[in-house]
Amino acid sequence: MLKRLSNFSLKMFTVLFPSEKPLLFTGVNSTIELASLARASGSKRPLLVTGKFLLKLELLDRVLEHFKNEGCEVTVFDGVIPNPTYDVIEDGIRVCKENNCDSVFAVGGGSTIDAAKVIAACCSNNVGVEQVIGLLKVKQPTLPFYVVPTTSGTGSETTNSAVISETKTHQKKFVVDPKLIPSAVALDANMLKSLPPKITAATGMDALTHAIESYTSVNRFSDAERDAKLAIKLLLEYLPVVYEDGNDLEARQLVSLASFLAAYAFNKSGLGYVHAISHQLSAYYNTPHGLTNAIILPQILRFNKSVCADRFANLERMLSGVSIGSDEQLADRFIERVDTLGQRLNIPGGFKELETKHYEAIIRNALKEARSFYAVPRLMSPAQCQDILASIAASSGTETNQMAHAT
Ligand SMILES: [Fe+2]
Repeated sequence: MLKRLSNFSLKMFTVLFPSEKPLLFTGVNSTIELASLARASGSKRPLLVTGKFLLKLELLDRVLEHFKNEGCEVTVFDGVIPNPTYDVIEDGIRVCKENNCDSVFAVGGGSTIDAAKVIAACCSNNVGVEQVIGLLKVKQPTLPFYVVPTTSGTGSETTNSAVISETKTHQKKFVVDPKLIPSAVALDANMLKSLPPKITAATGMDALTHAIESYTSVNRFSDAERDAKLAIKLLLEYLPVVYEDGNDLEARQLVSLASFLAAYAFNKSGLGYVHAISHQLSAYYNTPHGLTNAIILPQILRFNKSVCADRFANLERMLSGVSIGSDEQLADRFIERVDTLGQRLNIPGGFKELETKHYEAIIRNALKEARSFYAVPRLMSPAQCQDILASIAASSGTETNQMAHAT
């Protein structure tokens, strides 16, 4: 169980246990460069962790062929499911050990990458999943760990954490340790072009939320701020492009880079109320993470405006190159940009399924999450949180069974 941390403690954690960026390959077919690096670094028996869906798409044929040509014996573990459970990961650990694998090569979305992180950590430490749950429980470095993300949004390819679902209690468990950061990552547009528009939009809005929540955190680091700003710029410009044309590989590359940078930024500076509320809504209504964030984000931008006008104005100046106007006016223009992006991506205004009987628990848990883990710029009261929930419920909404889930 993670302990409650003050803002100062959060900052000290980042300083004492710094998270470095993984070595990065970018470009079409950079997956092959990553496989070459793994082989050159001594990997002879990689465990390829992925989902069955990707294997069916035959996206992996080239990388499997490449490993084979390099003289590697690849073991494929394709048992990862969305929101991986202890059982799934224990299965992966068993396969990894039985085949004496010497590295882990993950190709997939956030769930696949999270599962692969824990498999790589447990195998090198010779422990089970339960022993690495929590903060700084990974004693020795993981197996050499390589990642090719097939969505652009979760940022798991950059972060120091993994989420596991505990089957009996349906609770999310976290493994948090800088050792979970991959050795190297390939952002390969070829691996992203089959992503459907709805998932492209939802995951991209997750990345935008990471960047904005990081940028408005009071836990500030200059490199995280720089990366968050660049991510915001790239996402506002190129996310609508890839939503409309998934085969625009240049735009795909830039959106995937933005996701990577946004995740680095939030890994250092933390998140905020969008995620705190979103996690509760997903727990109650199984709403997809990215889409839930996209719906909540405009509400939190308006909630934070009274204390973040200067930050939002800075972003607007960067985006427009215009500095005429007060901070408040420029902040309004930035918020309107986010509104417009949501409209272009057909993000609904709310959820029809929100039920008032759940409000009390949602509010309690959301405020607790924010208080415990995030360095938010403005504290929210229960009444303010209730107003936001009511606004989301009242807005023209969508039903969760009509929404796209990204894995
Ligand atoms: Fe997120």
